[in-house]
Amino acid sequence: MSQPDSKTLDEVAQLRAELDEANYRYYVLDDPKLSDADFDRMLQRLKTLEAAYPELITPDSPTQRVGAAPAAGFPQVEHAIPMLSLDNVFSEKDIQAFAQRVAERLEIHAESLSFSCEPKLDGVAVSLVYEQGVLISGATRGDGRTGEGITSNLRTLQTVPLKLRNRSTPELLEVRGEVIMRHSGFEALNERARERDSKIFANPRNAAAGSLRQLDPEVTATRPLEFHPYQLARLEPDMGDERHSELMQRLGKLGFRSSVELEVLNGAEAVIDYCHRLEAKRDRLGYDIDGVVIKVDDLRLQRELGFVARAPRWAVAYKFPAQEETTVVNDVEFQVGRTGAITPVARLEPVSVAGVTVSNATLHNADEIERLGVMIGDTVAIRRAGDVIPQVIRVDKDKRPEDARPIEFPTHCPVCEAQVERLEGEAVARCSGGLYCPAQRKEALKHFASRRALDIDGLGEKLIEQLVERDWVKTPADLFHLTAEQLATLPRMGEKSSSKLIRALGDARRTTLSRFIYALGIREVGEATAANLARHFGTLEGVMQAEQSALEAVNDVGPVVAAHAYTFFRQPYNRETIDALLQAGVTWEEAEVTHGPRPLEGQTWVLTGTLESMTRDEGKARLQALGAKVSGSVSKKTACLVAGEAAGSKLSKAEQMGVEVIDEPTFLVRLEKWENSVTQGEES
Ligand code: IVH
Repeated sequence: MSQPDSKTLDEVAQLRAELDEANYRYYVLDDPKLSDADFDRMLQRLKTLEAAYPELITPDSPTQRVGAAPAAGFPQVEHAIPMLSLDNVFSEKDIQAFAQRVAERLEIHAESLSFSCEPKLDGVAVSLVYEQGVLISGATRGDGRTGEGITSNLRTLQTVPLKLRNRSTPELLEVRGEVIMRHSGFEALNERARERDSKIFANPRNAAAGSLRQLDPEVTATRPLEFHPYQLARLEPDMGDERHSELMQRLGKLGFRSSVELEVLNGAEAVIDYCHRLEAKRDRLGYDIDGVVIKVDDLRLQRELGFVARAPRWAVAYKFPAQEETTVVNDVEFQVGRTGAITPVARLEPVSVAGVTVSNATLHNADEIERLGVMIGDTVAIRRAGDVIPQVIRVDKDKRPEDARPIEFPTHCPVCEAQVERLEGEAVARCSGGLYCPAQRKEALKHFASRRALDIDGLGEKLIEQLVERDWVKTPADLFHLTAEQLATLPRMGEKSSSKLIRALGDARRTTLSRFIYALGIREVGEATAANLARHFGTLEGVMQAEQSALEAVNDVGPVVAAHAYTFFRQPYNRETIDALLQAGVTWEEAEVTHGPRPLEGQTWVLTGTLESMTRDEGKARLQALGAKVSGSVSKKTACLVAGEAAGSKLSKAEQMGVEVIDEPTFLVRLEKWENSVTQGEES
């Protein structure tokens, strides 16, 4: 391989500097300047150069946030300086007493003492160590003396600089702060978890802690975590700063987020006023805080005050009144989400929690009801925090009335009456009336019309909403009875776009069996599974009539998918809708049941990263059609790994194990070669 010339070296340095700057503006300053497209283009260019000259890759390159392979566990890390906790105070009087204590000890006038006041962030405390400006270690607080080394996970946070920004790089810097998850990210994460039936987090702090303790950094990288510094624990050489607030500003210049809420205030009264102001803002911050940390700002005075036991004398935490209240569960109702997940919601005796009236709280799912042991009529503790949906956190069983009733999960959907399905081991119960259920109508139609399903050009989300809201379309079959005249009466739909859509619907009628099965939106039946079902049974009738055991015999179909498909086809409404679709003229040529040559029989392949020319599901279906098994993880048995864009730990693992790795262009060439040989084989 050729050596990089000086032009390439310059270009790599330039790209890194610009990408670092762009990340800093986006994630730290919340003030992006570069467009997403430009950012992507530059990152792509840097990756290309680094792929051509791997010797140029440095650990602090913006391409290297997710680099490490999954860990077996976390090493113990001893903190050079213990990570202490804070004493709590709960009232204005306590704050005055703290200021008084400090002033007396220092023998100065209380009103002239200046305090740095900051939100007490409710997340996970971590410590980051930089040597010569480069991040070398990150650890949790642990017991204060020893924590867990989670460097690879912390590296995936865009708000943790991999190298410091300033030219006057200190030899050593240890910064401590809190890793938090914003409410928006937390709700989205739980929503995704509910859909996938994975673990639901009780609150953003648990979600942050759970995300940081992932053994695979690739998982942490997908979690919306932020690092907020609150203390500079070590700095060598000392820059002569005199105040904590100055150090916090310095951290901002070095590439960390700085707290917009931090204020330096003189005397206890101003501090108390800050506490009230922050508490009033608490619900609008978008992240959880549980109080105010009040610190003596002057570092010299901090040193003079020192520590008692495990807490500093120079700081306290003022804790806000709890966002918890007790009330009574009057009833439990069941909501059906847009993808059919059924969520129990407790209807509460209305109660004011930190100034907001709460009359509903989520109970998440049946497991949560069981865990809490809650019954209708029970007295419960509820908690609300910011814009997070209020939750039931505890049941006071001593107060249970005699007429308390157990919560019964519905066996049929409260919206459409289709059977409710809850598979063994799954937390979520779901409505199985996918094609018909009004609660799921919009999602079902969006999926039905999507590119990889019936590919109805021009039928976007907005239009689907209008059609559903006017009650013109209840099931996908109704789409085929729309007329151009009718469509033209919709806002922003001229004659031209109406007739175009009608034409697109006409075209979409001719499809394939596998697309049709995929379009039905059966849970867990993706493109690859739909293709396998089509190939195996050859006809829709065959798939619809198959018993669970017959479904399980299909390549890549396990008991869960088989159960979903079986239940789906047993719902009268789903069958009616399928009939209506066929009546409306949806057709395909019956799929060939493949018995031809299978060149990849016996091989296990793995796909990772993003493929440009197809989805991973499509790649998987094509490999399976050639006889390969497609697995989610690399092992010694892996025949080949296809590494798309931004491949992470699977790629490094394959390289370590000596598994063959191919890129997308090579993959395409091989696929075509094999697919051609298969069709030729069938013809001959
Ligand atoms: S200063 C020597 N500032 O509160 C004490 N801590 O109860 C250094 N915390 O473990 C802590 N926000 O996880 C400080 N602005 C803030 C904070 C903060 C949250 C947490 C931190 C610490 C705990 C102490």
